[in-house]
Order: sequence, then structure tokens, then C-alpha cells
Amino acid sequence: MSMIKGFHHLTAGVGGAQQDVDFYVKLLGQSLVKKTVLFDGKDPIYHLYYGNASGDPGTLVTSFPFRQKGVKARAGSGQVKVINYSVPRDSLAFWRTRFEAMRVPHDPVVTERFAEKRQRFQHPCGIEFDLVETDFDARPACTNADIPERFAVRGVHSVTLSLREVSESIPFMSEVLDFRYVGQSGPYHRFETHAGGPGTVVEFIHEPDRQQGSTIYGEGTVHHVAFAVDSTQEQSALKSKLMGLGYIDTSESVDRNYFRSMYFKMPGGVIFEAATTDIGFAVDEAPGHFGEEFQLPPWLRDRKGELLSRLEPINT
Ligand SMILES: [Fe+2]
Repeated sequence: MSMIKGFHHLTAGVGGAQQDVDFYVKLLGQSLVKKTVLFDGKDPIYHLYYGNASGDPGTLVTSFPFRQKGVKARAGSGQVKVINYSVPRDSLAFWRTRFEAMRVPHDPVVTERFAEKRQRFQHPCGIEFDLVETDFDARPACTNADIPERFAVRGVHSVTLSLREVSESIPFMSEVLDFRYVGQSGPYHRFETHAGGPGTVVEFIHEPDRQQGSTIYGEGTVHHVAFAVDSTQEQSALKSKLMGLGYIDTSESVDRNYFRSMYFKMPGGVIFEAATTDIGFAVDEAPGHFGEEFQLPPWLRDRKGELLSRLEPINT
């Protein structure tokens, strides 16, 4: 059985902070689970976490609004190409009407693969999303006043990785990360882990001619995919396994306040992370109050006013 239980979070570089909040919270009905900051020693950048109201791993997408720093990333292969969210069966018509009403760029037709209907739409920074209809996502709905529960997003369904070559990456998923190979559909290869289904699915799209994307943090790309592991013990067992098999491009375990992170690269170039589920968002805000206040790690708390004054004000 794989140590990886499914997704923990996906992290993207986006444009403006307010347009990002409007996309995840107003358009998609997700909750702002945490409002904090990335601090490189000179300039603060927001770190915004969205997910279901409890901030459950597998529902989380996090954003760095990089427009403020003027850093743009280059989309390409070796990256996440599409973030896929699950919605219940027969909900795509609701979402298409909503995209039209809210002027969200979206594809003219619904497509289907692996027997699932899907609707493509775009984040304002250009990152592509699909809503995927499924009967098999029992997670709580991400609702707001104008999104009925029967149509609401449940969480991350899967990620679609753009890869120039797949011959090393396919065995990496199954032999190193213990995912199961589900099958192939045209240029797509699908894998799943643990119990399978929404929240556990990784897809490759084989694009041999696509230019390599950048790996920096910047506006317009998903930077990495974080998978959920139970504890630092499991994280370190995974690191040892990677190192032992020759995948030596792994990080130490890093303290991210709400989880611990260990980063590694898969053969196709996508940055993966193993994030622990043993800490969580209740360390600085009580459940039911996640995302209400701007939170800083202990070493930055006395600079809260100064840091906030240098960030775009956001209305949540
Ligand atoms: Fe991460």
C-alpha cells in the first residue's frame, strides 16, 4: 500500500490577490482557509490557501500572487497543465451558465475521457482547470450562497501533468510511489493511489513536442503537487526510498507551520512534495474561523502591520 494517501495541496503562482480570491471563493465557492505570507527576506508575497471549510487535505489549492513582484513563469512541459476539480454528475450545465454570467473564459464544448465528462475553464492568470463529473466523491461540498450543494465542487479530483517523455515517469509512479496504473486514453495515462477515485488520481498527457516550462515561482503556472503522508516518519521513509533508488534530488523536511514538506522531482521534471497531515490549520485559528485573520509564523508576528501595508489589500 502506498504511503501516499492522495493529494494534500497544489501550489500555483497567480496574478493579483483580489482576482485570485474572487476566482476561488466567489466563483467556485471554496473557503479561504488561511491567509499568510511568503517572505524571502526582502519582499512579502501573500500565501493564500483555499479548500473546503475544514481545510481537508486534497481540497486545498494555494496561491502566491506574483504580479506584485513582476515575476512571470513560463508554461510548458514538465509542469501541471490542468487542475481538475470534482463536481457531482449532471452539474456541468449549471457551471457553464455560471461561467457565461461571470464572464469566465471556458471551452465551448464538454469533453469526456475515462468515462467522465469534463468542462475546461481558466483562472484569470491563464492556468487551466477542468470540472469533472463523478458519482464517487463523498467529500463535503464547497458551497456558497449561490452554489447549490448538488452542483458544488468537492475538492481536487486529479492533476494532469504535461510530459515530453513518459517512459521513465510511468514506472516511477508505480514502482517508486506505489500508484496503480489505471490505463491509457490517447495521449493520456492515468494512475491512482490508496483507495482510488477523486483526490487520488494523477494523469500524464504525453506532449513530446511541447517546450519545457519554467520551474520558478511566478505568475501563470502551477509550481508543484503536494501529496499527503501521515507523518514525518512516512515522509522520511519515502525520502530514503527515493535516495536508495537513485532519485537524489530531494529536500530536507521543511517546517511549513501547518505541515512539514519534503520536495522531490519526478523524472518528467514536475516538482512533487510529500506534506504531512499531522499538524493542520488549527495551530493558529480555531476550526470555524479559518482564514479570518492574517496569520504569520512566530518569527514574523511583530512585523504584521508593516508587512500588511506592503501587500495588496484584499476583500474576502
Ligand atoms: Fe507545497
